[in-house]
Amino acid sequence: MPWLARGAVLVFALLAASGCGQDASTPSMTAAPLVPDIHSFARPAEARVTHVALDLHADFAARVLQGRATLTFVRRPEATELVLDTRGLEIARVLDSRQQPLAFRLDPAVEHLGQALVIALPASGDQVVVEYRTSPEAAALQWLTPAQTAGRIHPYLYSQGQAILTRTWIPTQDSPGIRQTYEASITVPRPLRVVMSAEMLTADGVDAGDGQRAYRFKMDQPVPPYLIAVAAGDIAFRALGPRTGVYTEPTMLASAASELEDLEKMIGAAESLGGPYRWGRYDVLVLPPSFPFGGMENPRLTFATPTILAGDKSLVALLAHELAHSWSGNLVTNATWSDFWLNEGFTTYFEYRIMEALYGRDRALMLATLGRNGLLREMADLPPADTRLAIDLRGRDPDDGMTSVAYEKGAALVLTIEQAVGRDRFDPWLRGYFNRHAFTSITTQQFVADLQQELIGGDAALRDRLDVTTWIEQPGLPAGAAQVASPAFGQVEAEARRFAQGARSATLDVEGWTPQQWQHLLEQLRPTPLSPAQLKDLDATHRLGDTGNSEILFAWLRVAVARQYAPAVPALERFLTTQGRRKFLKPLYEDLMASAWGQPLARRIYAQARPSYHAVSAQAIDAIVK
Ligand code: BES
Ligand code: ZN
Repeated sequence: MPWLARGAVLVFALLAASGCGQDASTPSMTAAPLVPDIHSFARPAEARVTHVALDLHADFAARVLQGRATLTFVRRPEATELVLDTRGLEIARVLDSRQQPLAFRLDPAVEHLGQALVIALPASGDQVVVEYRTSPEAAALQWLTPAQTAGRIHPYLYSQGQAILTRTWIPTQDSPGIRQTYEASITVPRPLRVVMSAEMLTADGVDAGDGQRAYRFKMDQPVPPYLIAVAAGDIAFRALGPRTGVYTEPTMLASAASELEDLEKMIGAAESLGGPYRWGRYDVLVLPPSFPFGGMENPRLTFATPTILAGDKSLVALLAHELAHSWSGNLVTNATWSDFWLNEGFTTYFEYRIMEALYGRDRALMLATLGRNGLLREMADLPPADTRLAIDLRGRDPDDGMTSVAYEKGAALVLTIEQAVGRDRFDPWLRGYFNRHAFTSITTQQFVADLQQELIGGDAALRDRLDVTTWIEQPGLPAGAAQVASPAFGQVEAEARRFAQGARSATLDVEGWTPQQWQHLLEQLRPTPLSPAQLKDLDATHRLGDTGNSEILFAWLRVAVARQYAPAVPALERFLTTQGRRKFLKPLYEDLMASAWGQPLARRIYAQARPSYHAVSAQAIDAIVK
């Protein structure tokens, strides 16, 4: 049999025959992904990138990164082209390893995907150098003016790669199935510090002349390119434990450090479930408020929104979530964006387990119930096909799959498996799953095969009871899904009913309520036709517009917008103009645009706020408001 199989099917047959899977340590052509990724132009079965070396300079005035990417690749001997993903990059030259120019072309742009960069390969050699610059509009990058930072003195830059934005700042094969090690040297103006999702080789940088400093990094473990991340600004550091710490602007360091004080303990809890933490350090970068997500699991360095700084650690589940991705997502990665639920569903389940271990079963159940309720609400509005776990993304932006289906239906499946066999059997399987697939990218089908072989085995009754095929292929939540219900929410629902029926808010029994109970109260009240007097009473008694908990504030503002409650508009305007988290912005703008009362408000506030949003959020809100 020729070892150079043509096409994914043959490669698969070959791998099965030889009994070898993807081997992270010795890149070879047999480690090519088994399934095509419709969101990448790369042809990894011919030539596949294994290592990226970046040498970039950050020009804050021009808002561009400029320099070179040296790509190492494995190839079939007869391969004639290396195909990379790019979007908006200006390519100056492509060179071979002896610095000789290579012919290249940029194919026409395809919606969502950008342009293929097709490089003509010489007969031999395994490296190319791409000299390039990014566009000031690069969707992964946000360049902040000093006024958009907490310190207001220095500019700031950060990247967000997931799902397919890395190609807007790095010319590489931007597919989660094509794992790459990387190294980088990033040069910035002197007072700024650079951090990356990698090991830091020069904590304080080295002088690069001309008022510049260079910071060097390396990541020796192969990661999908969406996890390559950078930030630069006036960034300070404080250690939290032996392998944990927090980076943020100096004015936020103290509050961030106290909010994150349980981080080291969280890793301990996560390790008891997932096995050893394999990435060395775990630090958190708390970003400026425009960061479009709650958190992003960049390896060794989670990026987080400052809206988690509630002051009372009530939002640390978000960190449990990003930490959990160190196993589900970063160690075992979705092979394509249709398998995204493997990342987020396992992680959401894992998040709840970490929260249970650290803060008890009640807290975990409250979180899981909030999540399940959100899923049921969102599924009612989604096209049925998009409520399947592995969704069809042909011709679509992978962002279309980033709904609570991946997170909460995914977590519901994992929980259902757990409850079907009990933790005594489930936990070893879960740890085994992470180990068997460590440093590889897998498909939903590979998950199903693992479950069948390693957990279900010959137990036909269990197989029928779980019915994983229905979970994966059918819309909606299967009838056999594990139930989640928080006992602490029963009382909340009773109080919500009393209030809706006219009880004064001062008479509500809210003694000792957790922030999750408040959030649940407000979610219960949202569909209720409350009067302006009732809203005024609620807000005056409990000062909801002033809460430091962004989830409660968000839930309150949704209640207020649903009832067109004008006195909440200043708080709404403040919230929409002082943070840029897409999950908070999108529903609020949608709610506003749903009424003649809200539309002019949405337009006025958005006109003011848009320049401060990251491209990820602006793109989502453009579609709602314009
Ligand atoms: N990986 C995601 C964020 C993401 C998903 C970015 C898809 C781009 C595309 C991250 O782990 C996440 O899920 N963040 C959530 C927080 C979490 C507690 C549900 C968020 O940002 O809200
Ligand atoms: Zn996640």
